[in-house]
Amino acid sequence: MSTLRLEDLKQYSDTLRTRDGTALDVRFVEPRDTDELQHYFRSLSTRSRYNRFFGAISELPNGLLHDFLQIGERERFTVVATMMVDGFETIVAEARYALHAETATLEFGLSVHDRWQDRGIATALMKNLECRAAALGAEHIFGDTLRSNETMISLARKSGFAFVTHPDDWKLVRFDKGISVAAKDIPCASWRLAALSRQAESPSASV
Ligand SMILES: CC(C)(COP(=O)(O)OP(=O)(O)OC[C@H]1O[C@@H](n2cnc3c(N)ncnc32)[C@H](O)[C@@H]1OP(=O)(O)O)[C@@H](O)C(=O)NCCC(=O)NCCS
Repeated sequence: MSTLRLEDLKQYSDTLRTRDGTALDVRFVEPRDTDELQHYFRSLSTRSRYNRFFGAISELPNGLLHDFLQIGERERFTVVATMMVDGFETIVAEARYALHAETATLEFGLSVHDRWQDRGIATALMKNLECRAAALGAEHIFGDTLRSNETMISLARKSGFAFVTHPDDWKLVRFDKGISVAAKDIPCASWRLAALSRQAESPSASV
């Protein structure tokens, strides 16, 4: 289902805007990000980490850190959103998503660093994830959140997601949105191109 050119991941980078217009780059994580990614998770507030991973962890366990850095393995991907802060490229948000080809769905989880929350970064990142979902041929995009996570629930509602009961955990709620956009109309340039080339290679692809 996915036909990404994994040898040239840089082509799948996008520039997003915070609510006040500040630019941030979204790109696949790279091996050179290992230390900074771990630093990012360590420096999140305890509450943000709990909301992100549904449990108390102080950092990414080694196995999970390793998984985060494997782009495309088992159709799982990690992206980081970075901004220049005091002259350094700094990770301000991350998202991980998995394409479930058998159900044509894309599942994601994300976080924005506490210092950069409430500036519209998650809103922009979720729109970008919708582009990625469409380009990969997903028909639905969904995520899970703790029922107590009012910010995520409010954000998902504002972003047009509907809520469904989680299939196996009462503490979680699932938010889900249908994706129906033609390849030529995908509103992120790099993903529009990816979808169009996917369509050219496999004309029966639905988007
Ligand atoms: C949830 C999270 C991703 C939101 O990121 P963000 O960049 O701050 O989100 P945005 O700025 O795009 O939008 C947040 C929206 O929620 C609203 N909001 C902010 N704080 C809120 C709160 N305490 N209660 C309800 N709504 C709230 C804001 O009003 C905003 O809506 P607006 O754009 O109409 O003003 C961020 O808080 C986070 O990383 N939390 C920790 C990890 C997490 O919870 N991940 C989700 C589960 S995977």
